[in-house]
Amino acid sequence: MANYFPVQFSYKNGSAYLGSIPVKDIVEEYGSPLYILDGETIVQNCRKFLDPLSNLSIQSRVLYACKANLTVGLAQFLNQQGMSFDVSSGGELYTLIKAGISSKSIYFHGNNKIFSELELAITYGVTIIIDNLQELLNIIEINTNNKDIRIMLRMKPEIEAHTHDYIKTGQLDSKFGIEKQDFEQFHSIFKDHDWIQFVGIHSHIGSQIFDTKPYYELIDIMLPFIKMLANDLSLPVLEFNCGGGMGIYYTDGDNPFDVTSFMTNFVDYVITKFNSLSLPVPMLLFEPGRSIIGPAGITIYKVGVVKDIPNVKSYIFIDGGMADNMRPLLYDAKYKIDKLQKENQALKLYSVAGKYCESGDIIAQNIMIEEVKVGDYVIVFSTGAYNYSMASNYNRNCRPAMVMVAGSSVIPLVERETYDDLIRFDRDLNG
Ligand code: LLP
Repeated sequence: MANYFPVQFSYKNGSAYLGSIPVKDIVEEYGSPLYILDGETIVQNCRKFLDPLSNLSIQSRVLYACKANLTVGLAQFLNQQGMSFDVSSGGELYTLIKAGISSKSIYFHGNNKIFSELELAITYGVTIIIDNLQELLNIIEINTNNKDIRIMLRMKPEIEAHTHDYIKTGQLDSKFGIEKQDFEQFHSIFKDHDWIQFVGIHSHIGSQIFDTKPYYELIDIMLPFIKMLANDLSLPVLEFNCGGGMGIYYTDGDNPFDVTSFMTNFVDYVITKFNSLSLPVPMLLFEPGRSIIGPAGITIYKVGVVKDIPNVKSYIFIDGGMADNMRPLLYDAKYKIDKLQKENQALKLYSVAGKYCESGDIIAQNIMIEEVKVGDYVIVFSTGAYNYSMASNYNRNCRPAMVMVAGSSVIPLVERETYDDLIRFDRDLNG
């Protein structure tokens, strides 16, 4: 089976299925475009991180990076799988609170958390991952009651991960993280505020990474620093967050590493390294988003127009596009696309264009699929991450619904927006 299929996905006599459910039935019930997540893929992807950690003597947590895709129901499902969470905004945090996620399982990062976000984080009692000195000063200003706050520092590892420039985060000129030479400033402030519970260090090198080497480099680079904190400043690192960023397969040429063996080898390496310096091994945290949810997602679109420009190009116009998947336009991202109902016809060269008033609204250029007619549905694969979470209402279009297939049930996660939702916050000048 091709590795861009969600676990439960298959074609039976040319029709797409998720488990025993024809995908066509789902889209006919919930409408198009439609985001569909395969619950079994999510479960298996969580296990790839959690299982290699489960029998070890060290403590660990796998935080789901909520920015990849988040709804109340999705958070509850991931929580049931044993995942903890990292959030990057008050909105993500609020979603988790509404989902009933314990504050102990939530870590909050971001380079410019605004006051109301910090207030919510402090009130709910989550771990705050501080990104710069100003943020620490803001927390001190807010925390007039001297409430105990668990704090981690996001340190800039200064590592170049080989991925798209927009999704690198660890290099020297990155906006994220504290430069090591600035640590002393934090330390002197810590000494004056005994409610600051320094629990450890966070680092994240980037996203859609295919090479495991930078993760090992991260350990090599951070270890002397961690040792200095413990031995010279009596600030033991109790938790060390190695970040997320594990790449996934979208299309030919993508070569993701096997997460289970990476986790086994990497943790082994970490334990050996810490032992060699006689340092206690901290609780290890990982924060994958895309590699948990990306491969679980497919998006279904209906074809409204097939436009042939003779000897030039054949377009398929779908009923969604850049507002529900902005990755092709933003990162030149590529996707596998196929028909929902295959009829064993000859393959043809198409470009798949969205419905938005913008020439760049192309989901895929020049791909081979079976001949397509008006009214057919097409499937875009690997859309579980950074599609719904980055969707907009551009051109005042309604954002699609999202459902999850779990076993033999289809669970609605988000309703399709309506025109009334679009004007909900508009003020009418006529009162
Ligand atoms: N932790 C931190 C601090 C992050 O900044 C990110 C992603 C993650 C974890 C999760 O990374 P993942 O495992 O999902 O790669 N919109 C882009 C991706 C931006 C990722 C930003 N940070 C895209 O569509 O490719």
